[in-house]
Amino acid sequence: MADHTSADAAAGGLENLLVEERRFPPSPEFAAQANATAELYDRAAADRLGFWAEQARELLTWSTDFSEVLDWSDAPRARWFGDGRLNAAYNAVDRHVEAGNGERVAIHWEGEQGDTRTITYAQLRDEVARAAAALAELGVQTGDRVAIYLPMIPEAVVAMLACARIGAPHSVVFGGFSAEALHTRINDASAKVVITADGGYRRGKASALKPAVDDALASGDTPVEKVLVVRRTGQDVAWTEGRDVWWDEVVPRQDTDFAPVDVEAEHPLFILYTSGTTGKPKGIFHTTGGYLAQSAYTHRNVFDLKPETDVYWCTADIGWVTGHTYVTYGPLVNGATQVMYEGTPDTPHKGRWWEIVEKYKVTLLYTAPTAIRTCMKWGEEEPGRFDLSSLRVLGSVGEPINPEAWVWYRRVIGGDRTPVVDTWWQTETGAIMISPLPGVTAAKPGSAQTPLPGISADVVDEQGEPVPAGSGGYLVLTEPWPAMLRGIWGDEQRFHDTYWSRFPGIYFAGDGAKKDEDGDLWVLGRVDDVMNVSGHRLSTTEIESALVSHPTVAEAAVVGASDDTTGQAVVAFVILRGEAAAAASEASAEDHIAELRAHVAKEIGPIAKPRSILVVPELPKTRSGKIMRRLLRDVAENRQVGDVTTLADSTVMAQISAGMQK
Ligand code: WT7
Repeated sequence: MADHTSADAAAGGLENLLVEERRFPPSPEFAAQANATAELYDRAAADRLGFWAEQARELLTWSTDFSEVLDWSDAPRARWFGDGRLNAAYNAVDRHVEAGNGERVAIHWEGEQGDTRTITYAQLRDEVARAAAALAELGVQTGDRVAIYLPMIPEAVVAMLACARIGAPHSVVFGGFSAEALHTRINDASAKVVITADGGYRRGKASALKPAVDDALASGDTPVEKVLVVRRTGQDVAWTEGRDVWWDEVVPRQDTDFAPVDVEAEHPLFILYTSGTTGKPKGIFHTTGGYLAQSAYTHRNVFDLKPETDVYWCTADIGWVTGHTYVTYGPLVNGATQVMYEGTPDTPHKGRWWEIVEKYKVTLLYTAPTAIRTCMKWGEEEPGRFDLSSLRVLGSVGEPINPEAWVWYRRVIGGDRTPVVDTWWQTETGAIMISPLPGVTAAKPGSAQTPLPGISADVVDEQGEPVPAGSGGYLVLTEPWPAMLRGIWGDEQRFHDTYWSRFPGIYFAGDGAKKDEDGDLWVLGRVDDVMNVSGHRLSTTEIESALVSHPTVAEAAVVGASDDTTGQAVVAFVILRGEAAAAASEASAEDHIAELRAHVAKEIGPIAKPRSILVVPELPKTRSGKIMRRLLRDVAENRQVGDVTTLADSTVMAQISAGMQK
């Protein structure tokens, strides 16, 4: 927390947000039919815990009802609905079939190549039961961890729910992460089984996944006993006899009677790794009852879901928390019909998403600002070629959405008709926390506005005191919430240090925020060494470690520079080792930089690849040795370099700037 400069930078860049005067109230017709009315705020305010108990009972099916709503006596470790029992997969699939909705489509899946699969709730239930039986046959028991490394195919959702059916916490690792990243995550969670695929389709090509699993397990130091492999692309794969098993050889032959395992509300449902301020990713873990209750509640009210008639589509990958809460758990627990798409938005053409909206008559769409800005760049003609009139609510998540993108989204995609909900939350919060309600809130482009009913958030100053309207500070959550993280897997101390020590007793989110004159919240961006690139969290320290693990790099500093499309972009400054520096002729310098970028992709994954890498003679450091990223950000964003007086060597920035001009 020594470097508060990113808050300043974020605030500077977004200052204009706060003079935003446009208001978009819901139409009277929309408001009249909305699930959530203003009364929801009153109910939650009158009796917060009673409100959550009501939601949990209305939206979930419990095998044993709970008598206690919240036990906060061991804060910050919360117990929600502690003596209740349930099963997540039962809630997501079986009960809909039992209620007579088995023929409803759960997933309209669209492969990148144009192949499709339509899966009803009855079919999904049976497939989940079979996959659970297969996992049990492979030795997975309640409490064991299972790593999932899959493309966006229905088996990804099936695999997650199969784990949940057994009560085996899953750890989904984004398919774009490297073998090395997978290896670290497998070992941190001691996963017994990995579920993967031969490959998936991306940008018109079969892209292999299995080799990364083979590499991750090559060292032999992992606890993995079995690798379950889905056949998707049919490409050749290396095979380890006794360890590797084809999905289509073990799953289809199972019975569909594998019963959901009844677990306590606080039984871990999943671990999901996210970047923190140090090099080591944090295994955020979530439990069952509270997480599912808030996931279903937010999905129903923020998107105004009508399960019988809506077609919902969240474009996130299951490798991120958005994919967990708003592809797998929220929509399925609510019995929704959803679209799932395997590929990229511009394959085979830049209108692919809009073609999908038209084809399935999507009514609720949830995506990220970076995707919206990319579509803006491609031009209005692309969505203009398709009929988007089915849409009725648009959602945004992952990073601050600039008002122009917000207004474009509403006008071009939403036909100037749909409410837009800007939803703030994090891997740690498990579900949406701050967002307009589409039938209630007069929306302000660029602001997430209001904590949802049942949620308590505020903006505080350095001392933890709430700031007055019109001021900025740190975003905090002042009361526990059902879907809150229960810890960092295997690292209790880090859980306390990261979230609960900055302001004792309240949750520090790591974001800077402002409260405007109406009391509405504007989330400005991270105030720690975490970057947000295309809505994905990356740690500066993790990328720096990757760079210095290359034999030619002596030191590295990474900053997130603002970028028109991706929000932030990774810019790295490196000092080369003596020999490498001497050997670097002008001609080879470019190749060397390409090699360093590839090295980062290999260590972490292509998403972490720096946009640019600058070789510098020195890095700007304070007398205590802390790198002043603020100054490097000035360079990366082509600004006049700020105050250098606290540098140990005040000439360093001049040296760097001189190098830039060469
Ligand atoms: C960070 C959390 C939540 C799922 C996707 C990202 C930023 C997220 C917003 C928003 C401004 C946002 C914050 C937050 N963020 N949503 N609507 N407005 N900023 O999850 O990877 O855990 O990242 O994303 O900086 O702390 P994540």
